[in-house]
Amino acid sequence: GEAIADLVASRVLDVPDFPKAGIVFKDLMPVFADGPTFRSAMDAIVEHHGRGSFDVVAGIEARGFVIAAAVAYAAGVGVVPVRKAGKLPRKVLSATYALEYGEATLELHADAFTADQRVLVVDDVLATGGTAAATLGLIEQAGGTVTGFSVLLELEFLGARAKLAPREVHALLAVA
Ligand code: PRP
Ligand code: MG
Repeated sequence: GEAIADLVASRVLDVPDFPKAGIVFKDLMPVFADGPTFRSAMDAIVEHHGRGSFDVVAGIEARGFVIAAAVAYAAGVGVVPVRKAGKLPRKVLSATYALEYGEATLELHADAFTADQRVLVVDDVLATGGTAAATLGLIEQAGGTVTGFSVLLELEFLGARAKLAPREVHALLAVA
């Protein structure tokens, strides 16, 4: 609720003109770097969905990996990586999408999930939603059932929530 939102808000740094002019980069590294804040944020994600409500956590390279590992460890489940192109060694499913700046391809091992495995997806920031939409699509294509999607920070004004509907978005902090 409010407490965790305030905690995250106190650890978000706005970096103007990164990675290029006109973009205000939201740096969440201070959330990761502070022990009590990091633990509270990871616990809040597990508590929101409920321990036992997901079988595996999917993390989106790169910043989503940090969150996925911690959430999975706290919940006693495993981690599946959704990676940038060319990194996974076996048969993959691929999705190319537009970023707020540029374009990218994400990949997932085709056999990453067993039938009906319940997957919690995590990332640091929800901006345009391109990354999330590509990831959720890949997981469903691979036979996983997406049971939740959590981010530390949602940039509401970019409208990603509508793009991802009817899937639920859980954000520890949303900025208008
Ligand atoms: C950033 C961020 C999210 C994504 C959000 O990742 O970590 O994954 O962009 O943007 P979107 O909602 O507009 O798709 P980025 O691709 O920059 O890479 P990184 O996590 O490897 O730093
Ligand atoms: Mg990312």
